[in-house]
Amino acid sequence: MTRVLYPGSFDPVHNGHIEIIETAAKLFDEVVVAAMVNTGKDGVFDLDERQEMIVEVVAHLDNVSVAMFSGLTIDVAARVGADFIVKGLRAVSDFENELQMAQMNNAASGMHTVFIPSASRSSFLASKFIRDFARFQGDTSKMVPPSVAEKLKEKYG
Ligand code: PNS
Repeated sequence: MTRVLYPGSFDPVHNGHIEIIETAAKLFDEVVVAAMVNTGKDGVFDLDERQEMIVEVVAHLDNVSVAMFSGLTIDVAARVGADFIVKGLRAVSDFENELQMAQMNNAASGMHTVFIPSASRSSFLASKFIRDFARFQGDTSKMVPPSVAEKLKEKYG
């Protein structure tokens, strides 16, 4: 049985994340999605809200569970008994940062990170731009599931 941890800030979860979760759920026996704090980003939704949104959008996947943690990803991976960390890669611009995190996590714990490339139809999606769309009343309906679009409307009025 192979269990993987898919950590991210998910602020909010979008269609690109869901595609990675669905792919990971096909590749591995169990997927734990963890909403985490990225100290390089200011959070808009709190971790509870992010977790709630994720729970709703992965409800159709039997082998996916959702958790919410602060602290180091490698500690969370150990706590949930993950064999690997999974991350999505959208473009070359993601790679440098993701590779560095994967190498640091590996050096510190021996944990390996498996990268799953995004499909081209969702490789432009980013939570920060989706928040901009929502903030200025743009249409996010093709970027996030309806339940998340609703939460964005509530957040930005
Ligand atoms: O969706 P993101 O913002 O790219 O996810 C980044 C995240 C949350 C996975 C990363 O910032 C992280 O692992 N944060 C937890 C703290 C940690 O482990 N930092 C060391 C990374 S080498």
